[in-house]
Amino acid sequence: MYKIRKPKLSEVVQLKALIDSASVKGFVLPRTLEELYENVRDFYVYADESGLGGCVSLHIDMEDLAEIRTLIVRNDIRRKGIGRMLLHAVLDEARELSIPKVYVLTRCPDFFGKQGFQKTSLEQLPYKIRKDCARCPKYGETCDEVPMILSLNNDNNGKVL
Ligand SMILES: CC(C)(COP(=O)(O)OP(=O)(O)OC[C@H]1O[C@@H](n2cnc3c(N)ncnc32)[C@H](O)[C@@H]1OP(=O)(O)O)[C@@H](O)C(=O)NCCC(=O)NCCS
Repeated sequence: MYKIRKPKLSEVVQLKALIDSASVKGFVLPRTLEELYENVRDFYVYADESGLGGCVSLHIDMEDLAEIRTLIVRNDIRRKGIGRMLLHAVLDEARELSIPKVYVLTRCPDFFGKQGFQKTSLEQLPYKIRKDCARCPKYGETCDEVPMILSLNNDNNGKVL
């Protein structure tokens, strides 16, 4: 039976290892242990008998916008619906917080497209550009991440549509 829940502080080192394994392949940004402890409440994890098998985080930018970050499912358990469940855990939380829009910068646009996200342009996310992109060496022509956005219906008591 799957288990999606908040991580325990004792799992942060394991969480970093999961993120490291995906960041070396360029799927997600690396995170330091310090960053992970500071932002651990942003995360949900999937845990099974082998330990942490997946993670995702919801990072609030401002009153009406949050970013989906660091969605990862361990290689051996992909294509079983775990990525979708992790994503919907943070979408549920965003609805509970009445956040109207969430976005993601991803190299996996087809996955997010299947969950209702639509392609947008970085220019539609000026806060993200100022906060992160402007400092990124890939900002501009070499950026290979696709910005995608999802409007949330907040009139349904936090239930996934
Ligand atoms: C993207 C990722 C999280 C998907 O996790 P997953 O558990 O394999 O996905 P799911 O099984 O929940 O898939 C949900 C749907 O998306 C589809 N899907 C999954 N990965 C896909 C991909 N790479 N490309 C296109 N479609 C994909 C599935 O077939 C499924 O479709 P269906 O509803 O029609 O059956 C996983 O491949 C991963 O960890 N990738 C590396 C890290 C990464 O790129 N993360 C995104 C950065 S923000």
